[in-house]
Amino acid sequence: MRYEEKLLVRALNGETLPRPPFWMMRQAGRYLPEYRATRQNAGSFLELCYNPDLATEVTLQPIRRFGMDAAILFADILLIPDGLGQALDYREGEGPILEPLRGVADLSGLSLEGLHERVAPVYETVSRLAAALPGDVTLIGFAGAPWTVATYMVEGRGSRDHAIVKQWAYGDPDGFGQLIDLLVTATVAYLDKQVEAGAEVVQLFDTWAGALSETAFQRWCVEPVHRIVQQLRQKHPGLPIIGFPRSVGAAYGLFASAAGVNGVSLDWTVPLDWARDELQPKVTVQGNLDPRLLVVGGAAMEAETHRILETLGEGPFIFNLGHGIVPETPPENVGRLAEILRG
Ligand code: CP3
Repeated sequence: MRYEEKLLVRALNGETLPRPPFWMMRQAGRYLPEYRATRQNAGSFLELCYNPDLATEVTLQPIRRFGMDAAILFADILLIPDGLGQALDYREGEGPILEPLRGVADLSGLSLEGLHERVAPVYETVSRLAAALPGDVTLIGFAGAPWTVATYMVEGRGSRDHAIVKQWAYGDPDGFGQLIDLLVTATVAYLDKQVEAGAEVVQLFDTWAGALSETAFQRWCVEPVHRIVQQLRQKHPGLPIIGFPRSVGAAYGLFASAAGVNGVSLDWTVPLDWARDELQPKVTVQGNLDPRLLVVGGAAMEAETHRILETLGEGPFIFNLGHGIVPETPPENVGRLAEILRG
C-alpha cells in the first residue's frame, strides 16, 4: 500500500475515516509473555533497546497478535541522554536512574558528538522494521519532548513533584534553556535519522507536561515542540507529527493551536465533547481510553470504547489509550479491544 493510503497517515492528514485507525502506547511490553521471554534473552532493558534483532522482534509481537494499524519503534525516551553521554541505568522495580545534572556547569559533560554512533542500533531497528512490516501498517518513530526528558536528566529518576527540575527551570530559566536547546537539537537530529531510516510518522511524548504552570508550559513544552516540528519539516516536508502533552487539561487547546503538530494525543481525563468541539477542528485527535479499563476489560471497557468512538469518530481521529498499557493487562482484553476497533 502507498504511504498516503495508510490509515494512520490519512487520519493525520485530516481525513475522517469510516473506521478510525488504532494503536496503543506501550503496545510492546511486559503484559505480553513473548516480550518477557525476549527481554530475558536480551539481558538488560537497555541491551534490548540497542539490539536491532530483538528490538525488531518485540516491536512486531503486538502487530502479529492484534493487528494494530501502526507499529511503534521499540526504544525509550532516555536513549537521547544516554547518547549525549549521561550515565543511565534501568533498575528492576525502580525504573530509570541517571547521574543527575544540577546546573549549567553540568552541561559541559554532555555532547552531541557521540549521539548518532551510540544510538545507531535504533536507526538499524527502524530500517529493519520498515522492511518487515505488513504493507498497510504505519511505522511510528518517537522521542521524548525536551521538558519530559529534562525532568529525568535533572531529577536523576522519575519524580512525583518535580521539585528539583522546577527549582532550576523557574529559578534560572536562561541556564535551563540551554539544556532545552541542546535537547531540541539532539531530538531533531535523532528523529531526522529515524525518518531517513523509514519512520513514517513521529510522536513526541511529553509525559510530565501537566506538572507545569501555564507560562512554563508555553515556554518549556509548546515552544520547544514547535521548534522541533519546524526543523523536522524543513528536512521532511509533510511529515505527520503527533504530540502528547499529558494531563494539561484546557491547555490542550493552546498546544493544538501553537505546537504545529498534525495530531494531539489526549490523556483519559479530557472530556470528549470538549475535545470534539475545541480540538478536532484544529488537529487530529488521538486517545484516550484509560489503560485501567483495559485491565478490567468486559462491559466497562466496551462501553467506554464505544463512547469514545461515537464522540470522536465523526472527525479526524486515531483510537489509542490515554497513556501506556500497564504490565498487569490481560492480553485477551487487548485482543477483544482490537476486535471491536476493527469492526
Ligand atoms: O510504546 C511502545 O510500545 C514503544 C516503546 C516505549 C517504551 N518507553 C518502552 C519501555 C516508549 C514509546 C516509551 C516511552 C517512554 N519511556 C516514556 C513516555 C511515555 C510514558 O510512558 O509516559 C517515558 C516517561 C519513558 C521512561 C521510562 N522507561 C520509564 C519511566 C520506565 C520505567 C517504568 C516502567 O514501565 O518500567 C521505562 C522503561 C520501559 N520503557 C519499559 C518499556 C517496555 C519497561 C522496561 C522493562 O521491560 O523492563
